[in-house]
Amino acid sequence: MAEKAADLMTTIVSLCKRRGFIFQSSEIYGGLNSCWDYGPLGVELKRNVKEAWWKSMVWGRRDIVGIDASILMHPTVWEASGHLKGFTDPLVDCKKCKTRFRADHVTGSTCPECGGELTQPRNFNLMFKTFMGPVEDDSAVVYMRPETAQGIFVNFLNVQQAARMKLPFGIAQIGKSFRNEITPGNFTYRTREFEQMEMEFFVPPGDDEKWYAYWREERLGWYAGLGIRKENLRLRDHEKSELAHYAKACVDVEYNFPFGWSELEGIANRTDFDLKQHSQHSGKSLALFDEDTKEHVFPFVIEPAAGADRATLAFLVDAYDVEGEGKDARTVLRFHPALAPIKVAALPLVKREGMPEIAEKIYNDLLGNSISSFFDVNSSIGRRYARQDEAGTPFCATVDSQTLQDNTVTIRERDTRQQYRVSADKVVEAVTEKLKGANR
Ligand code: GAP
Repeated sequence: MAEKAADLMTTIVSLCKRRGFIFQSSEIYGGLNSCWDYGPLGVELKRNVKEAWWKSMVWGRRDIVGIDASILMHPTVWEASGHLKGFTDPLVDCKKCKTRFRADHVTGSTCPECGGELTQPRNFNLMFKTFMGPVEDDSAVVYMRPETAQGIFVNFLNVQQAARMKLPFGIAQIGKSFRNEITPGNFTYRTREFEQMEMEFFVPPGDDEKWYAYWREERLGWYAGLGIRKENLRLRDHEKSELAHYAKACVDVEYNFPFGWSELEGIANRTDFDLKQHSQHSGKSLALFDEDTKEHVFPFVIEPAAGADRATLAFLVDAYDVEGEGKDARTVLRFHPALAPIKVAALPLVKREGMPEIAEKIYNDLLGNSISSFFDVNSSIGRRYARQDEAGTPFCATVDSQTLQDNTVTIRERDTRQQYRVSADKVVEAVTEKLKGANR
């Protein structure tokens, strides 16, 4: 990765557009700032990221269950959670060019764009407001949720009782959140509409520090296990002054993006703040009855809160590699096979002698087994391999003249370019075995 940081981001943004990972939203109308659309490869990549998270958080564990709560919630939720009062960023305006900045993103009192004088900072609430129903007055105001976590807290007892969960246990959710960020930017890193992957882990009071230590390591390991280079990951503890109003401790999993070390995920000890607040504001106690002590207790909460878009961007940036130089250069996205949008490309070496038909049969077998695959007959085999390398496809199955003799095909591995032969009828099996190994 010899490219300079800014160039590298530009290259990645343009590769994302060219190959159909990510497009600017509403591009034909000039685009909508900070909004992005995932294309055919991007939607697969992001789905795979979310599925890997769900597997590690829900399917692979006996102590966590999932929910899918609505984006619009009762407005009192945001009073209880503290978002109405406290979910603000300090905003300054340039008196000359009228550009707005987050006060903590500029130094001094002059505008970084034109040198004009900046106003005094004032608090700007980041929640998007809208109206429920046909009347647009104060009584109809609802908010687009700024975090998925509150949907979990308000459903705490519903889930605990329905799924008969006992402490310690967790509730996981993936879904959209909205924040009217003053300065979005860095591609999909900070946007106003994004997807979160959050899990609230409820523990007996007193066990919170043990579980906080556990989830820090567990979450860091998740990114590394899916192929992010260890030297590009770190944990950064929050200073006391940085802590959110509800948190006793918080640590960020950070990734070394081309624009610097930045947060991928926060792991917070939220104490019993949220359950107590919702009990108070709703008048319905969210305490649990402890059979041993015969007392009602408010569990403490450890919250690993990740962003699906940020994680996807980190997996993209980390996978990006250019091997060789000049006309021999090859661009490869070295995705972990579990994340790769396409797992296998079925390719005939040439467009004749029945090779396309055999390759198409392999393609149909792969699709029949729900293995995301691609079939490509156009241009030279070298060009087609290069296209798959750039899409991050870990395996190509190539039909050649030997196939016509002995019914074997070549499996080419993306990272090593190593090739070996397997029976044309066993491509699904061979690839499934490889993917299983990679997913362990
Ligand atoms: N419930 C706690 C919470 O929401 P957060 O640190 O504000 O904590 C969690 O958000 C994660 O959500 C972040 O680490 C990040 O990955 C993602 N996220 C937050 N704001 C974002 C934004 N404007 N654009 C993209 N992702 C964002």
